[in-house]
Amino acid sequence: MNSPVMQGLDLNTPPYVKNARLIAWVADMAALCQPARIHWCDGSEAEYDAFCQQLVDAGTFRKLNEAKRPNSYLACSDPSDVARVEDRTFICSEKQEDAGPTNNWVAPADMRATLRPLFEGCMRGRTMYVVPFSMGPLGSHIAHIGVELTDSAYVAVNQRLMTRMGKAVYDVLGTDGTFVPCMHTVGAPLAEGETDQTSWPCNPTTKYIVHYPETQEIWSYGSGYGGNALLGKKCLALRIASTMGRTQGWLAEHMLILGVTNPQGRKYHVAAAFPSACGKTNFSMLVPPAAFDGWKVTTIGDDIAWIKPHDDGRLYAINPEAGYFGVAPGTNTLSNPNCMASLDRDVIFTNVALTDDGDVWWEGMEQDTGKVPAHLIDWQGKDWTPEIARQTGAKAAHPNARFTVAATNNPALDSAWDDPAGVPIDAFIFGGRRSTTVPLVTEARTWKEGVYMAATMGSETTAAAFGAQGVVRRDPFAMLPFCGYNMSDYFQHWLDMEQTLLSKGAALPKIFCVNWFRKNEAGKFVWPGFGENMRVLKWMIDRIEGQTPGQETMFGVAPDYSEINWSGLGFTPEQFETVTHIDRSAWLEEFKLHDALFEQLAHRLPAALLTTRADLEKRLAA
Ligand code: OXD
Ligand code: MN
Repeated sequence: MNSPVMQGLDLNTPPYVKNARLIAWVADMAALCQPARIHWCDGSEAEYDAFCQQLVDAGTFRKLNEAKRPNSYLACSDPSDVARVEDRTFICSEKQEDAGPTNNWVAPADMRATLRPLFEGCMRGRTMYVVPFSMGPLGSHIAHIGVELTDSAYVAVNQRLMTRMGKAVYDVLGTDGTFVPCMHTVGAPLAEGETDQTSWPCNPTTKYIVHYPETQEIWSYGSGYGGNALLGKKCLALRIASTMGRTQGWLAEHMLILGVTNPQGRKYHVAAAFPSACGKTNFSMLVPPAAFDGWKVTTIGDDIAWIKPHDDGRLYAINPEAGYFGVAPGTNTLSNPNCMASLDRDVIFTNVALTDDGDVWWEGMEQDTGKVPAHLIDWQGKDWTPEIARQTGAKAAHPNARFTVAATNNPALDSAWDDPAGVPIDAFIFGGRRSTTVPLVTEARTWKEGVYMAATMGSETTAAAFGAQGVVRRDPFAMLPFCGYNMSDYFQHWLDMEQTLLSKGAALPKIFCVNWFRKNEAGKFVWPGFGENMRVLKWMIDRIEGQTPGQETMFGVAPDYSEINWSGLGFTPEQFETVTHIDRSAWLEEFKLHDALFEQLAHRLPAALLTTRADLEKRLAA
């Protein structure tokens, strides 16, 4: 195919790109954004290395000490660009009711009118990278292809770790394959002859993360950080994919997927939803305690699951991603030894601190070394010492500092992680961060009760995502920021899945609700968490196998103290009572909060949730 030339700009289309719609779209977007040049990414290692060097030269990346952290880099962002911007995230469906009350909505025509002038010339002086990526195994029937046009080389290298990115995607697209167009700009055009004044270009005042679900497009303006900019992740694999799943009869979920194999070699698969910054990556890479000799936990995914009903009546899940973009602070060999091993090499770190010997550090690492370094350069490039931290409270790493690393670095990676058929799901787990009220673990008695538990999930906010700490925010299914359509319709979609599965005659996956975060009167966490969560996982497997009776509570079936393997852990019945007891007055308050959520979602709210609510209240009164 000849490479068209636009307004003096060569499209530079490689001969192996044959998709006419893609070429036409790149031409249109180049005419709109007016980049200085266009680079079609091939995803090769040589290209990755060249981009990283370019980012080093621009001051965006710092190459880390090759002996300590081979092939790894540190980027520090602008302090105004450190997290997802939920208040600037929009679902622009034709009708407002289809976005629902939990999403920001603007009519598509109005949003297009707002964005068009912002994108006009937005890439002046910069390169437009064409980043082709597959969410899900390349060429598989369940994968979806996206192409991100971005003026950020940082995005291009992160996408190579987070997705299947490169030339093979153009091959899969062929001449007429379809893709989700993902437009991204940092929103910082350069004037004629101007070079970057900053190592992290972004737009400090204007940000838009926009989704058009009906036309399946993503437009992101002004931020270079994480989910705002790596458009395959939250934007495509959750917001757009959830709308695809609704119409096509499958689920796109904010869930980790893990495999757990017992000493006899029987393997189970679990998908678990937790709000951001509740330890999903840790749970997905769990190392069982010594008492669980012969048990093995393996990671299929740490953040997103696409789950489809198959003809055998079971739900099968794939991880559409190919890498982890995890929160660094708090990660150490106690909380997540497999993750620490994954980070030994080939990592892009963002907003962690730099040590004097050219390595990285973040809060929580002192648990491994027994000491805090005497001096660091913090994520904002300032000197940091324990004394400065004591005086000013300054954190060395930003609380939402991240690592980007390919899944293949994970020593606990499941052998089926890349299997296009996915893995059959035996159980769903839903959990939030609650210092009170919600018990350690309960099992829903019915699918409806499970949907109720997930729909009314709440979580105390953490600094990683939202500034204010400790406020309980309702986060249905951990999807509040990620559902691309009306949350009430989403609940109905989950409720409908019961019939879809039952009609095929297989057993439904069990649904569990967990809370690792109950605190005692002194404000301390009681449950040890991390690898010890294996004890709860084992109880769930016993329930799946019908090997343990459990006991009825107001909020589902819970374990008796004697039903959990405590070997090697001094956890007393009193402590167990602290993390499991059901406090009537706290639950009366909790139900009021459920009611407030249901009021907000009243339009199209499934009646089944209200009847389940009434049943639960009756049980509480009994
Ligand atoms: C994430 C998030 O980055 O949920 O995964 O915020
Ligand atoms: Mn997430």
